[in-house]
Amino acid sequence: MTILGLESSCDDTAAAVLRRHEDGKTDILSSVVKGQTALHADFGGVVPEIAARAHAELLDHCVEEALTRAKCEFSDLDAIGVTSGPGLIGGVVSGVMCAKGLSAATGLPLYGVNHLAGHALTPRLTDDVAYPYLMLLVSGGHCQFLIVHGPERFERLGGTIDDAPGEAFDKIARLVGLPQPGGPSVEQEARRGTSGRFSLPRPLLDRAGCDLSFSGLKTAVLRTRDAIVSEHGGLPQQARADLCAGFQQAVVDVLAEKTKRALEAYGALSPAQPTLCVAGGVAANKAIRAALETVSLQNGAQFVAPPLALCTDNAAMIAFAALEQMATRPADGFDLSARPRWPLDQTSPAMLGSGKKGAKA
Ligand code: KG4
Ligand code: ZN
Repeated sequence: MTILGLESSCDDTAAAVLRRHEDGKTDILSSVVKGQTALHADFGGVVPEIAARAHAELLDHCVEEALTRAKCEFSDLDAIGVTSGPGLIGGVVSGVMCAKGLSAATGLPLYGVNHLAGHALTPRLTDDVAYPYLMLLVSGGHCQFLIVHGPERFERLGGTIDDAPGEAFDKIARLVGLPQPGGPSVEQEARRGTSGRFSLPRPLLDRAGCDLSFSGLKTAVLRTRDAIVSEHGGLPQQARADLCAGFQQAVVDVLAEKTKRALEAYGALSPAQPTLCVAGGVAANKAIRAALETVSLQNGAQFVAPPLALCTDNAAMIAFAALEQMATRPADGFDLSARPRWPLDQTSPAMLGSGKKGAKA
């Protein structure tokens, strides 16, 4: 089974070709990701209209490149999988229209895939993890704990009630004058700092359950910065590093404690091999990764973090999710719609609005 995947829900245009063999193993034959960071750089965030236009222009090139690198032609394919939500609607529409066009021209069956399901199923592509497993999705637009029971069965244990952690890293970078994306630059700055110098809150730790909040922490960093600036007439280098270190440590502490609680809830299922998986750009943060690994081991779970290129937005995860779902449901028709919002767990949707990265379902 050879499948083409398309992804265009945020600011990365991507196409990939995957092949599943008879023994169930899946190879990534190609994975092409064209980012749009430069296009949005002047605006301090992703501009949906610019993103949609860029996706429409780049998708054909990504498909062509993915097929060439995989040494495949359309006649070698068995299906097409495409992100049909959630995300910035213009981008999702670009991808869905492209996939429908290809499906109409080739006769290949079409599968609309939830972008979050793509992230959540990736550990089965990279590490052959068995269902059920616990997933922490942490990126610029998402933050939630999910028990992944099957290709289309997700149980949401909790998530952010305001900002996603990556979004908070990006905002903190802006507050202290570091370049975007904020995650890597704040992490680098934090290495030179002392986390205990400024007192910052650990939001929602006093509340039971796995919900998280990062907007109060962001405001506390803003106030601390303003106090330093009014005292010193600017932000001294060491204070900036200490503030970044303090912020990062607060995120680490909150994620570690909530992950411990999520592991306890998931443990009630008595999984044969308890596993915590992470996905999303924030999983690149070494301090966060180390803390999650420690909590997993302390709670008797193995820790799986797919390689970063498959943790961040890509089309291999979309093709893989389609492969996983194909066994349990029919293909979609040409009435497949693009959905800006699409919670994975319909019984426990997020309590959120749309952010700079789209619907934080
Ligand atoms: O998954 P991703 O590429 O895109 C989506 O948000 O869907 O994640 C990007 C986010 C950005 O907010 C970026 O600042 C954050 O992940 N990020 C990091 C690190 N690297 C990327 N956050 C903290 N530490 C990092 N090293
Ligand atoms: Zn994503």
